Amino acid sequence: MLFDEYKYFQYKFPEPQYLGAKFTHLSWLRKFIPDNITTAFDAFAGSQSVSFLFKQMGFKTLTNDFLNFNNKIGKALIENKSAKLNNDDLTILFQDSPDKKNFTLMETVFTNVFFEKKESEFIDNFRANIPLLDDFYKQALAFTVMNRSLTRKITMGHFGHTQALVYAADPERIKRNRSLIRPIKDLFLELLPTYNNAVFDNEQENLSFNENALDLLPKLQNVDLAYFDPPYCDSHADYQSFYHLLETYTEYWKDKEFINGIKRYEPKRYSGFDTKSEVIASFEKLFESATDIPYWLISYNNRSYPDIQTFEKLISKYRNVKIEYKTYQNGRGGKGSVAGSKEILFVCTPNKKHFITNN
Ligand SMILES: C[S@@+](CC[C@H](N)C(=O)[O-])C[C@H]1O[C@@H](n2cnc3c(N)ncnc32)[C@H](O)[C@@H]1O
Repeated sequence: MLFDEYKYFQYKFPEPQYLGAKFTHLSWLRKFIPDNITTAFDAFAGSQSVSFLFKQMGFKTLTNDFLNFNNKIGKALIENKSAKLNNDDLTILFQDSPDKKNFTLMETVFTNVFFEKKESEFIDNFRANIPLLDDFYKQALAFTVMNRSLTRKITMGHFGHTQALVYAADPERIKRNRSLIRPIKDLFLELLPTYNNAVFDNEQENLSFNENALDLLPKLQNVDLAYFDPPYCDSHADYQSFYHLLETYTEYWKDKEFINGIKRYEPKRYSGFDTKSEVIASFEKLFESATDIPYWLISYNNRSYPDIQTFEKLISKYRNVKIEYKTYQNGRGGKGSVAGSKEILFVCTPNKKHFITNN
């Protein structure tokens, strides 16, 4: 029934602010997603915008990101079928924490880096209360909305610079972006309804993972479509420098050093896709592990390394490839989305060799 096909599209994905998010390209991407499939896997899910589309299309959705703050979004909006944050939950989250003395990481590390002392204390206190929520998905939702609020609070939406407090004292900047001086609690309460309203059940057992895609892929079975949107190597690839604060807040690291002016945690997690010396070997490993998945969609950019021709050659060892382009009209959206640069999609379908191998 035609109506059935659209029933989950009444739910709206809350607009993300994440480098390389595909939120603004979803209707374009959708044209290349076969609709006769059952299970779709988003291996580098970031903000989860593409996974949300998979869920809306009614697929069993497997999603993954090696950063846990992104996995929390996956738990909250992809895996979660019904849990929402209500007023009783908010009372718990905003109460004076009984465990305050064990939650001082934000205050100690980030006061006067990104936040004033009072705001750091507020988010520490909130963090201490998250485990008191009785439902795992509610906890994931609390992380998700708070992490989004922290991104709103920071100028330019990432933590790779330390201008937030400087800008928060500049009336011109404030005029352009009032979030700079708004309390984090207000931002949280403003954002919450859009997240609560995005929770739905597509009658599938969706799962969110928090692993390196290279480790996870060999363990998955019966996947029909894999979507690969790795960092665009050579162009804003280091997500851990841009979003370290959200990962630190989520993990509440006790075993890391906090280095440089931005206080990024060290050591970082291993990606394999963010350095030129490793990226080709990582793609080969990824494709080898994906040979049982018939359809692949791979997002790319004409400023990435390796260049498009080299990358196409690499893929054609495994799949038939068609290259689709979308040109950016302006520079919004990060990750190589400079005016004139192109968003590219490799649409990969099984070749004869693949079927023969399988038989
Ligand atoms: C371009 S972003 C994905 C954007 C996403 N499609 C969206 O719409 O928001 C790339 C993501 O890959 C993640 N990542 C990097 N290396 C990874 C790895 N080895 N395994 C899994 N995720 C990885 C980063 O944390 C980042 O969120």
